[in-house]
Formats: sequence, structure tokens, C-alpha cells
Amino acid sequence: MSHLHINPSILSADFSRLGDELRAITDADAAHIDVMDNHFVPNLTWGPPVVERLHEISPIPFDVHLMIEDADRWAPRYAEIGCESVTFHAEAAIAPIKLARELRAQGSRAGMALRPATPVEPYLDMLEELDLLLIMTVEPGFGGQKFLDLTLPKLRRAAEAVRGSGASVALQVDGGVSEETIGRAAEAGANVFVAGSSVYGADDPAAAIEGLRSVAER
Ligand code: DX5
Ligand code: ZN
Repeated sequence: MSHLHINPSILSADFSRLGDELRAITDADAAHIDVMDNHFVPNLTWGPPVVERLHEISPIPFDVHLMIEDADRWAPRYAEIGCESVTFHAEAAIAPIKLARELRAQGSRAGMALRPATPVEPYLDMLEELDLLLIMTVEPGFGGQKFLDLTLPKLRRAAEAVRGSGASVALQVDGGVSEETIGRAAEAGANVFVAGSSVYGADDPAAAIEGLRSVAER
């Protein structure tokens, strides 16, 4: 990956005008779409019909983050509706290798996410099945939480393993990413940064994206 990507999360956007909120971030590399089922996490957002319609009107690609149980069953649906990148949680997938292959076969990038307490080591042998590895930097479920520095050693180990494998896997962080924390994540090896409250909570989302990018690239 040549440059650092900032993917704003529409979880912090105004839900009554999601079309405008997507158009406010056209300078971003992708829109991060958090799907929650009130089982895998104690919060509920949207499902395939809403994501499909938003995708049709979005000026930028979709980076879908599935915080749902039964990922093996539901993740392929998001690839089918054309989402460019689909990330399932390792903790919610019974057959992650098979699932990653299915997502790629349907033309999406295959992503896998790990909760803060889930170790990365059991998954290092499947790096080449993935296009993206998401190291959660908060417990998934809500925006606006504090960045967990205890995830940085895992991020560093993942970055080393990706480099060593020669596979082209993007390393994403999600949760608590701000101008204050993004430098630490970049230094540890992340190259895709999800930012919800620090983009949509700002008066000027486009300027917030630029601000994050310039701190990360420092
Ligand atoms: C939380 C979601 C995040 C959330 C991040 O579980 O996965 O994508 O929107 O929000 P901030 O950037 O506010 O921590
Ligand atoms: Zn997310």
C-alpha cells in the first residue's frame, strides 16, 4: 500500500442525512460502514438493504465492518451487493479461511478483525488469505471510546508478520483514532485508519481527514 488511508466511520454521522454525510467525505479513501446485530456487540445499526442503497449513492468505496454473529452466513451477502471490502470478526466466524476465499471469489477484498483481547498469533498462517487485518483499538460496539494502547504490541507483531510473509495485507486500526493517537498506531505499523467521532464530530469533516492524514504521515 503506497499511502496511508483514512476511512471515516459513518457511525458518528447524522443518520437522518447519510447521503450528504457520505458526500462530505469524498476526499477519504473509503467509507467505513459498521454493521452491528445487538448480539456480537450490544448495539444495532443497519443490514443489507440499507447498506445496498447507501452503496448505490456513495461517491466512495465501502469498507464494511461486520460486528455480527454468524459471519459465515451473512458476510458474503455484503460482497454480493458490491461492497469493495468486507471485514468479519475472527471470533464470529467458524471457517475464516473458507469465508475469506468466498469474499474474494465474489470480488470483494477480504478482511478479518480481532477484538482487543484476541491474540493475532493463531491467525498468522492465514495472512495470504486476507487483504486486510483489522486490529480493534477499542472494544467494538460504540463510537467515541478511548484508544487502547495495550493493543499496540499486537499491532507491531502483526506488522512484522505481514512484512515477513510478503503478503499484501493492509493493517487497519479502528477505535479512538484521533490526531492525538494516530501517530502511535502509524508508528506501530497501521496503514488504514478508521475515524468516526474525530471526523464527523468536527465542524469540517474534510479538514479533519486532512489533519489526521498529515499527522499519520509525519
Ligand atoms: C466501533 C466501530 C468504530 C467506530 C469508531 O465499534 O467499529 O468503527 O465508529 O468510532 P471512533 O472513531 O469514534 O472511536
Ligand atoms: Zn468499525
